[in-house]
Amino acid sequence: MTERKQIDPIEGKNSIIYIDDALERLRELPDESVQVCITSPPYYGMRDNQTATWEKGDPNCDHRPPPAISQLRNDTLQHGRRRADVHVMDNAGYECSKCGAVRAVDYQIGLEPGTPQYIERLSDVFREVYRVLKDDGVFWCVIGDVYSNNHHKGERPELPPKNLYGIPFKFATRLLKEDHKWFFRSDIIWHMYPANPNPAKDRCTSAHDHIFQFTKRKSYKYYQMVTAAKDMRDNAVANMRDVWYVQKDMSPSDYDFTVLPEAIVNPLILASSDESDTILDPFAGSSAVGKAALSLGRKYIGIELNENYARMGAAKLSKRSMSLAPFALTLNDAGKRRVLVYRQKDKMDEIEKLRLREALLIKKNRRLEKRVEKLEETTRDERRYANECGLQSGD
Ligand SMILES: C[S@@+](CC[C@H](N)C(=O)[O-])C[C@H]1O[C@@H](n2cnc3c(N)ncnc32)[C@H](O)[C@@H]1O
Repeated sequence: MTERKQIDPIEGKNSIIYIDDALERLRELPDESVQVCITSPPYYGMRDNQTATWEKGDPNCDHRPPPAISQLRNDTLQHGRRRADVHVMDNAGYECSKCGAVRAVDYQIGLEPGTPQYIERLSDVFREVYRVLKDDGVFWCVIGDVYSNNHHKGERPELPPKNLYGIPFKFATRLLKEDHKWFFRSDIIWHMYPANPNPAKDRCTSAHDHIFQFTKRKSYKYYQMVTAAKDMRDNAVANMRDVWYVQKDMSPSDYDFTVLPEAIVNPLILASSDESDTILDPFAGSSAVGKAALSLGRKYIGIELNENYARMGAAKLSKRSMSLAPFALTLNDAGKRRVLVYRQKDKMDEIEKLRLREALLIKKNRRLEKRVEKLEETTRDERRYANECGLQSGD
């Protein structure tokens, strides 16, 4: 590992973002100081978040970033820099093709040589999260699976290609071992759209992540999430189900990862905290959690290793805006607060219908265009024939 960089945190009103390694920084936070942790850890082996430092070479070079992880190995082999059986996931040793600088290992999580090491690092981080969480606190973790295809082509791959690693389950199982004391309360499926395109035709396209709910104790701060009950009497509500159909954040983004949408974060915050409570995200990325926390009147602590992401996130926080919160609002029911979550599914059904109608119109239009083309062609042929026969058009 390279030495831990010391960069001043970015402080705002009710918020602080540490530009740091999650584990190291968490160790410095006091016990039981946050109410809720909402985070999405880096996926395993999907991307390099550009947090490594470089040794030797030209200090003024912008260093050609390592290619996508899947290409990394081919590239290194082509250049004959590393042996064939070295895992592509090694975090260090890659040479900048422009100046020859050598990439040093960094604190980044997600580029470990195998999933056991990755899960172990996450486990270390969330052991600290347990300590800093209040006794009635809740930890929400958005986590997805990945395929083994591009990761390990070495002589002893962890899994042959075409296998899911089963990361969410390995992670949850790890957090249930004795050195953790979490309660694993629920597994919400975030059915996301649009799905990431994938050419595979021998399996379904992946379109979900898990949102795990862990708590420190058996009972905890929680305001029931409810949703409008369909086919029931007006204004009736039902307990929120654990499959959420939510669109990915589609706003143009400078980030390489999926930004958590408000439609996910807002209900989680409202369900597990009160105003002025502190919300923590140890893998803050674009500070989407921070943005939602502040606009809902909470405080925010973010930790992010990539300085650019941290600064871009902080800039978003400084622009105060009301939460759009279109899918969550609080209701009073006999004095008890509840969180009403609108179903995006209903909206989407409407949109699907419109799309279908549009597609039909386009099809109809095409058919008409074809008929016009055919008519024009026939007219041309007739004119040509008339000319050849010396007839005037209209004869
Ligand atoms: C999936 S992204 C988080 C996205 C975020 N939830 C959002 O909505 O914008 C994971 C983030 O973890 C950061 N990261 C990776 N390793 C880290 C570490 N050791 N400490 C802190 N942050 C780290 C990456 O730079 C990346 O920004």
